[in-house]
Amino acid sequence: MVEGVGRPAGGGLTAIGLDFVDARVEASVLTVLEGVEAELRSSVASADPFVTEAARHLVEAGGKRFRPLLVALGAQFGDPTGDQVVKAAVVMELTHLATLYHDDVMDEADVRRGAPSANSRWTNSVAILVGDYLFARAADLAADLGTEAVRLQARTFARLVHGQIAETVGPRDGQDPVAHHLSVISEKTGSLIATSARFGGMFGGAAADRVEALAGYGETIGVAFQLSDDLLDIASDSVQSGKTPGTDLREGIPTLPVLYALGSDDADAAAVRLKEILSAGPVTDDDQHAEALALLRESPALKRARETVRSYAEEARERLAPLPASAPRQALESLCDFIADRTG
Ligand code: IPE
Ligand code: IPE
Ligand code: MG
Ligand code: MG
Repeated sequence: MVEGVGRPAGGGLTAIGLDFVDARVEASVLTVLEGVEAELRSSVASADPFVTEAARHLVEAGGKRFRPLLVALGAQFGDPTGDQVVKAAVVMELTHLATLYHDDVMDEADVRRGAPSANSRWTNSVAILVGDYLFARAADLAADLGTEAVRLQARTFARLVHGQIAETVGPRDGQDPVAHHLSVISEKTGSLIATSARFGGMFGGAAADRVEALAGYGETIGVAFQLSDDLLDIASDSVQSGKTPGTDLREGIPTLPVLYALGSDDADAAAVRLKEILSAGPVTDDDQHAEALALLRESPALKRARETVRSYAEEARERLAPLPASAPRQALESLCDFIADRTG
């Protein structure tokens, strides 16, 4: 088990645990990730020192580099040494980074990657504009990869934005809230992780059916990844996540355990009280927030949500079936275990 991929919030080793199985695969993936680190900083440089500083702020704060990791792993099914692989990974991380700048404005988040979010360090306007700048940089680099890459990046971004909009607007009248939520997550998170795995296969030159399998895997592991992240928002401390725990609850963003708790017909005192607090909307009162977090942590709803994460992680593993049995495939399988287990 290697816990040294990418750079985590706050420095040190990453929270992504991965079994590379084969030392050559490990060395190859780490080479791609080192290339990504080298290019990320320079790719956001601007003639304006303030723009450079604001754009580098979250690059330097760390992060798990999960999307570049998937590009690097996907490329193992072809030739991972081509320099387009690194560039494709940089395009994915920059796209992700841009969405984080915007997302922290939407979610009024103060902390990101263990550092002040751009909106809290500067202003909402700065965070939005720097996010736009990062998208522009990602598109510029994607152009070097060809028309198909530009189209895929644009369509992925459109899906991601649809997910963010659907989350903001909420379910339509009569739409099942859990189904709505899962579709939001596929769009806002599965989309970019699917394209990351696809880019890995594509720019490694893997066969078309393998590229499709990688994209299907990425979409599904992406959903599991987001769902598990939402559980960490409830179950972890800020040291582990690099974010302020309980933010979703405070902002009234319904996550899976909250939706399960709201939909449950358990009649015991804890379940009834939890439902009472959650159904009143965003939990902004500090005492109520602490009470709701404590109740959620012990709730059957949280347990059920963990089972849902496991079922997505299992489905992701099944999506790998068209790929040849090999060390890279086993590494992707080990990621399923990591995500299924990271929420306890
Ligand atoms: C944050 O993504 C948003 C989610 C999809 C949960 P990451 O958890 O990959 O964030 P970083 O890149 O490590 O900061
Ligand atoms: C992250 O979504 C942004 C995207 C996936 C586009 P969330 O709001 O759910 O994630 P965190 O908790 O802020 O990282
Ligand atoms: Mg959000
Ligand atoms: Mg957020």
